[in-house]
Amino acid sequence: MKAVAVFPKGREVKVIDVPEPRLGSPTDVRVRTLEVGVCGTDKEVVQFKHGKPPKGEDYLIVGHECLGEVVEVGAQVKNLAPGDLVVPRVRRPCPSPDCLPCRTGATDFCVTGEYTERGIQGAHGFAAEYFVEDSQYLHKVPRELRGVAVLTEPLTIAEKALREVAHVQTRMPWQRQLPGKAVVLGAGPVGLLGAMALMRAGFQTTVYSRGAKPNAKAELSESLGAPYVSSKENPVDALVKQRGKADVVYEAAGVASAAFELLTALAPNGVFIFTGVPESEEETLDEGVLMKQVVMNNQVLIGTVNAAAVDFESALEDLGRFRAKWPGKVERLLTARHRPEDYAEVVTGKKRSDIKDVIVFTPE
Ligand code: BGC
Repeated sequence: MKAVAVFPKGREVKVIDVPEPRLGSPTDVRVRTLEVGVCGTDKEVVQFKHGKPPKGEDYLIVGHECLGEVVEVGAQVKNLAPGDLVVPRVRRPCPSPDCLPCRTGATDFCVTGEYTERGIQGAHGFAAEYFVEDSQYLHKVPRELRGVAVLTEPLTIAEKALREVAHVQTRMPWQRQLPGKAVVLGAGPVGLLGAMALMRAGFQTTVYSRGAKPNAKAELSESLGAPYVSSKENPVDALVKQRGKADVVYEAAGVASAAFELLTALAPNGVFIFTGVPESEEETLDEGVLMKQVVMNNQVLIGTVNAAAVDFESALEDLGRFRAKWPGKVERLLTARHRPEDYAEVVTGKKRSDIKDVIVFTPE
């Protein structure tokens, strides 16, 4: 079958021909890949800055944002049947008996760093015509989400973040509901999906991103009801003047300087969520001022990576809610679909579209 793989030694990304995987245990499921999303992490993987092939192999099949269709189930699989649509989770537990998070199903909080991640870290991904996965790592997708469910995995980032914000803010028992204002930094797929999730949770949300208006991301953001402010035209103080300080900042740009600058827009008792993994930059901020602000205002900075089963379930529910609340808008995040042969050009940006690029393995 066809698969897209990176070869670290030869520094290559290409379509290869590999044997079709077979069921290895009675809880396994064989899945036909429908679509695979491409994100910033994939770019890091093909630039050999992040991730690695499975032990003993010289290549890694890429792809971790996936929608597939079940074609075969093992004898002990009760919750899935051929024809079901599924989304797989990404991370698998480390082997350490001492890693309580991994031993209790919270691999997103693994403490040994020895977890594997399909398509990223030591385990083949989903950018292939078929894959096999244990049923415990698959989430059943309602049929009506066929066109958008490839966005489930990037949406789990916001779902996990919102779950953590809710936990953290129980420190304020006088606050009956989560406070009202959010700023999202970055208007890529993670940012715009984050904006939708924040709005769905009731936050008055602003999207703050570089591109000057008009542009496709700004249009989409405003059509959802989230004002878009360009950071090129409005420095952080102008943003605060226009929109007020934010109770939650959701960083989804992966640029450290832009993120830390935005820390000054965080309201007292606010929570700042980092989701991006930046390349290193020169530090130009006054750390003393920021530290004083964080202390004097009881602020919380959270980093978040990967997501748990519950976040995948919330993401699937939310995709349905988003489609009902904003008809046609979730679909607009998917700005281009490509052939597996185009993967290298898509991931390196030569063929990148406005918001989300997807590789199609099985057309609708
Ligand atoms: C994926 C996560 C993964 C992280 C680090 C992200 O793009 O969504 O599942 O944990 O990269 O490898």
